[in-house]
Amino acid sequence: MGIMSEAGKRSKKEKAAETATSLIKDGMIVGLGTGSAAEFAIRKLGKRMEDEELEILGVPTSLRTEMVAIECGIPLTSLSEHPSLDIALDGADQVDAHLNLIKGGWGSHTREKIVAYASKKLVICVEDEKVVDVLNKPVPLEVLPYAVKIVEKQVKELKGMPVLRSDGLRGGYFITEQGNVILDVDFGVIRNPREMSITLSALVGSVEHGIFTNPTEVHVGHEKGVKVLKRA
Ligand code: 5RP
Repeated sequence: MGIMSEAGKRSKKEKAAETATSLIKDGMIVGLGTGSAAEFAIRKLGKRMEDEELEILGVPTSLRTEMVAIECGIPLTSLSEHPSLDIALDGADQVDAHLNLIKGGWGSHTREKIVAYASKKLVICVEDEKVVDVLNKPVPLEVLPYAVKIVEKQVKELKGMPVLRSDGLRGGYFITEQGNVILDVDFGVIRNPREMSITLSALVGSVEHGIFTNPTEVHVGHEKGVKVLKRA
């Protein structure tokens, strides 16, 4: 049952990645997100480049994504060379009814937010289980190790419950590619994600948080197909 449902989620994600990738046109500069949905999109993009002789350039948001893109033959560039991107393809951990997102499950939300900001369009691919009325997952904050206790104090004043993310296997802490740590902060339901985003952006010692309020489209994979949600 567990294995089946994991496979089901992957196939919904893959369908969403396929329709999102179909938006890419020849000559585009494409932001490449991090995570399993983003990886499906990158692999499909690599295949389209081969089949259709599509020429694109990718800007990766993590080392892992960079490796997958290289494996798929996608030429890479940087924000220094191309500070304006046509489109970014990425995943998300949760999506609300107004297309606000929680991201950062893979700890790459700081680079993902920078790439999203630099892109004319942000296209998100998720499986239907991730779509909710109101956001309620813990919000990842990338935090300077020097400031962990200071950020914990500030989020507790906002009635958040912070947990320092572990590295899972080795009993240490998860370290981001910027050399920081992640606090996953449970605020319960987030009724006003825009206001929460502004509040979290003002925290001293936190580099970036995982609330995104600006996707252009969210491609939601269902068992029978993909529904594209667009901002009203
Ligand atoms: C990485 C992210 C990912 O997009 C998010 O965690 C979803 O991952 P997946 O597509 O593997 O479910 O925000 O920082």
